[in-house]
Amino acid sequence: MMNKMISRWLLISINIMVLMEIGNCFEGGGVISVKYKFGGMERSLSSLSAHDTIRHLQIQAGVDLPIGGSGRPDAVGLYYAKIGIGTPSKEYIVQVDTGSDIMWINCVQCRDCPRRGYHGLELTLYDPSDSLTSSRISCDREFCKEITRGTSSTCRTNQSCLYTEIYGDGTYSMGYFVEDVVQYDRVSGDLQTKSANGSVIFGCGAGQFEDVDSSDDALDGMLGFGKSNSSMISQLSSSGRVKKMFAHCLDGVNGGGIFAIGHVVQPKVNTTPLVPNQLHYHVNMTAVQVGVGFLNLTTDIFMLGDKKGAFIDSGTTLAYLPELIYEPLLEQILSWQPHLKLRKLHDQYTCFDFSDSVDEAFPNVTLHFQNSLLLKVYPHEYLFSFEDMKCIGWQNSGMLTGDNKNATILGDLVLSSKLVLYDLENQTIGWTEYNCSSYIKIKDELTGSVHLVGAHSLSRGCRLSSKLYLFLLLLSLLQFCLQ
Ligand SMILES: *[C@@H]1O[C@H](CO)[C@@H](O)[C@H](O)[C@H]1NC(C)=O
Ligand SMILES: *[C@@H]1O[C@H](CO)[C@@H](O)[C@H](O)[C@H]1NC(C)=O
Ligand SMILES: *[C@@H]1O[C@H](CO)[C@@H](O)[C@H](O)[C@H]1NC(C)=O
Ligand SMILES: *[C@@H]1O[C@H](CO)[C@@H](O)[C@H](O)[C@H]1NC(C)=O
Ligand SMILES: *[C@@H]1O[C@H](CO)[C@@H](O)[C@H](O)[C@H]1NC(C)=O
Ligand SMILES: *[C@@H]1O[C@H](CO)[C@@H](O)[C@H](O)[C@H]1NC(C)=O
Ligand SMILES: *[C@@H]1O[C@H](CO)[C@@H](O)[C@H](O)[C@H]1NC(C)=O
Ligand SMILES: *[C@@H]1O[C@H](CO)[C@@H](O)[C@H](O)[C@H]1NC(C)=O
Ligand SMILES: *[C@@H]1O[C@H](CO)[C@@H](O)[C@H](O)[C@H]1NC(C)=O
Repeated sequence: MMNKMISRWLLISINIMVLMEIGNCFEGGGVISVKYKFGGMERSLSSLSAHDTIRHLQIQAGVDLPIGGSGRPDAVGLYYAKIGIGTPSKEYIVQVDTGSDIMWINCVQCRDCPRRGYHGLELTLYDPSDSLTSSRISCDREFCKEITRGTSSTCRTNQSCLYTEIYGDGTYSMGYFVEDVVQYDRVSGDLQTKSANGSVIFGCGAGQFEDVDSSDDALDGMLGFGKSNSSMISQLSSSGRVKKMFAHCLDGVNGGGIFAIGHVVQPKVNTTPLVPNQLHYHVNMTAVQVGVGFLNLTTDIFMLGDKKGAFIDSGTTLAYLPELIYEPLLEQILSWQPHLKLRKLHDQYTCFDFSDSVDEAFPNVTLHFQNSLLLKVYPHEYLFSFEDMKCIGWQNSGMLTGDNKNATILGDLVLSSKLVLYDLENQTIGWTEYNCSSYIKIKDELTGSVHLVGAHSLSRGCRLSSKLYLFLLLLSLLQFCLQ
């Protein structure tokens, strides 16, 4: 279990044009301009008129993305969402990740992709030839030029646009881009949604490297909620379908939670500006408070590492701090219980036996950010259970590789049980403590009406194949008979 506490954050997203030769085996299906039916009129999505933009905003208040999973490292440590892709539409379960920028789904061509993943779920592979609306993106498309800026020296007509996504845990996905219709739940009233769709360019995963130990965490793909133009939210918003704002509330206790795209008006959150010129969501951390006291840190410690500022990443499970913050933080936390017998597990996790309630025995840790935004982390959030022990969730980023050394990466450990609002229009991010099993309110920009959006908790067995189900039924009958 412990070695599944991997973190996935994007190191680089490069489109290896020099590997274009690989692309040759995918050649033949490239289409340059794709037409979709919308409102009874055929038009190219890339040239939607201003009128259409307004029309779409009028009917679309927001998007309700049903999520499941749990950020608790002792549970599974990932959140996932369900989306429909293609015509006819099929359902896919994807990991939601604010630390990467594209969406990809494993495709039928993929030989090394796992066929069964998380909790024995049968995985669904996307087959472009099964969808009437699927088309391959060629390398001369604007999308491809932008994503491969600087490296696209050789683009021959009808060649596929390739991608490689490499994550911080050493796993990767590679393949080619396709465009297809994505179905989502549009907010249409209080706790009500209507199915809507939009055309999105995403990766068709033709090759993958997964850590063998983590293959039972495998899902159908990844849904990157990064801020670059290639993410699904950027694509939907550039065609006027959604406002460039989204929020998540990950329920660290019950699992699932709220994930919505749109203008969140309730709860109100305090915000901090995003650090400009960073690929992802980075904010300025200014101080670390343990209980009532502050760690004695110089301000330059918050600017260590290659990537400036603290990285907010829902695709990472734990929270990583530079050694110069991590060491004094642990010292302060542990000073509350000086007689603990500490054990180091997997050279990484500091654990100890502890059976009392942790919330009275250990201090709250409060991270301070620019604009006086606070992030309070309770002992029950930063201490997770492993076997009969408690382990400290704070990690030393000095043990990470490459440019993540000395980085501050804040994952689900600290983001759970908070409504986290990403406002890409104003380039801010904010949060507030919140009950993630309750509701938030989303405003329709044009009509001014406000709708409730509630929590979801996708059932884990939601896609157990009928064969597996029958097998489990027989197995339980057998156990019953043997008793
Ligand atoms: C997408 O939405 C439009 C308009 O609501 C609808 O006519 C069309 O059938 C939908 N397409 C798919 C593939 O569901
Ligand atoms: C590119 O693909 C289109 C559609 O498949 C085809 O009509 C066209 O002939 C191809 N062009 C070249 C140069 O291969
Ligand atoms: C993203 O798209 C917008 C509008 O389409 C454009 O102005 C901007 O330059 C693009 N950003 C990047 C990084 O290419
Ligand atoms: C973050 O901190 C750096 C260094 O102190 C500063 O230059 C920058 O203006 C701050 N704010 C933002 C939004 O980047
Ligand atoms: C804080 O650290 C600096 C050196 O980093 C030291 O000079 C100073 O005395 C410390 N202050 C306190 C209150 O410990
Ligand atoms: C942590 O914060 C909560 C809520 O503000 C408070 O009730 C609790 O006493 C704090 N814990 C400690 C150990 O100070
Ligand atoms: C982190 O930064 C400190 C201060 O600049 C430096 O001394 C240390 O070597 C760095 N650690 C790593 C693992 O790079
Ligand atoms: C975004 O910024 C604009 C202009 O500064 C402001 O009017 C608006 O209220 C801001 N939106 C939010 C959600 O803070
Ligand atoms: C959270 O909200 C749900 C739904 O409104 C409610 O049933 C539950 O009691 C709330 N939990 C807390 C701790 O307030």
